[in-house]
Amino acid sequence: MHIGTPLTPSATKVMLLGAGELGKEVIIALQRLGVEVIAVDRYDNAPGHQVAHRAHAIDMTNGNVLSRLIDSELPHLVVPEIEAIATETLLELEQSGVCRVIPTARAANLTMNREGIRRLAAETLKLPTSPYAFADGFDALKAAIDGGIGYPCVIKPVMSSSGKGQSKVDGPDELKAAWDYADAGGRVAKGRVIVEGFVDFDYEITQLTVRAMGEDGRVHTHFCEPIGHVQVKGDYVESWQPQAMSPAALEKARAIAKAVTDDLGGLGLFGVECFVKGDTVWFSEVSPRPHDTGMVTMITQRQSEFELHARAILGLPVDTSLRNPGASAVIYGGMEAAGIRYEGVAEALAIPGTDLRLFGKPVAFERRRMGVALAEGRDTDEARAKAKQVAARVRPVR
Ligand SMILES: Nc1ncnc2c1ncn2[C@@H]1O[C@H](COP(=O)(O)OP(=O)(O)OP(=O)(O)O)[C@@H](O)[C@H]1O
Ligand SMILES: [Mg+2]
Repeated sequence: MHIGTPLTPSATKVMLLGAGELGKEVIIALQRLGVEVIAVDRYDNAPGHQVAHRAHAIDMTNGNVLSRLIDSELPHLVVPEIEAIATETLLELEQSGVCRVIPTARAANLTMNREGIRRLAAETLKLPTSPYAFADGFDALKAAIDGGIGYPCVIKPVMSSSGKGQSKVDGPDELKAAWDYADAGGRVAKGRVIVEGFVDFDYEITQLTVRAMGEDGRVHTHFCEPIGHVQVKGDYVESWQPQAMSPAALEKARAIAKAVTDDLGGLGLFGVECFVKGDTVWFSEVSPRPHDTGMVTMITQRQSEFELHARAILGLPVDTSLRNPGASAVIYGGMEAAGIRYEGVAEALAIPGTDLRLFGKPVAFERRRMGVALAEGRDTDEARAKAKQVAARVRPVR
């Protein structure tokens, strides 16, 4: 794929579907390579809108609206950054040769629904996962749990992300509330949930995996150092890299990542989430795009996950090497307000070896991710302590 000049007939045009904080960084990486970027989100002035050549606010779950926009912009590449997209439309557009979807339309389609990717991983690829079942109603859910999944278990809407509608259930008396929460929290396909046996892991990782073109004209798989993270209510609050792992566990995690990404195919970066206990590794899920926990790579790697994604999708070479240990810590809105200010930024950045991203989201919510603190360190313990310090010094105010 050639690179042209933006805003001229030779332009290499990339459309991001989803222009949040992750999309914003992918866009900046593409801009640096001279790509013309079109940012799409469901609301105006999304983070990625603010750094793109053109911005659109549309309902991306509406196939007609989405295909009309793609037909009018005619991007060479369409890059999904979120799951809530009319992926059937992407399948059709890719099929008819209108555009290439990253990594593939099938990957976007399979991973937007927990059922698609779980059945592929566990039933087709025979990868180790938590025990699971799908249920369409409260009675079916109860029957699945009583029939073998047992307690504790985790209930999630089949279509949701960032922990929305998800809860851990320790016993039958908590089940109704978990069902109601999942039923209300799903994006679409209301009422369908996955119930998973709770995995009592030692730690969980994101194995960033890149499929990139080699000099030999073939696709090669590259692995980043594993990222450790802490999730609260299904949403990431802290991550670090590298996560120490036994050689056996690392080998298994990478074999899982290779199997899943080989099957999904295409070019680009994937975030493969695994649970680890001793030398045992379970596949949890995969994002065929940069992963939120991978924001730490902006301070740890020679090329961040965003630069790796930008390079890989353009058919360019990648370097996944680690530069130094580091950590990230999320900065939340802490309030419901539009157009907030951030106090303490100078104090935060006065801590040596740290950095900060403020996403520029127009509206803050209590638990909305508004920024991320980054820190390098001699080891991940030092980096984690510094990242948390930086995050704590940044104070959102009205
Ligand atoms: N079966 C399980 N056993 C133990 N913990 C689990 C299980 N499933 C999920 N979790 C915990 O909840 C977190 C979020 O789950 P999952 O990744 O499936 O949800 P998600 O909404 O897709 O999150 P995100 O979009 O942020 O990746 C996991 O990272 C893990 O900490
Ligand atoms: Mg996840």
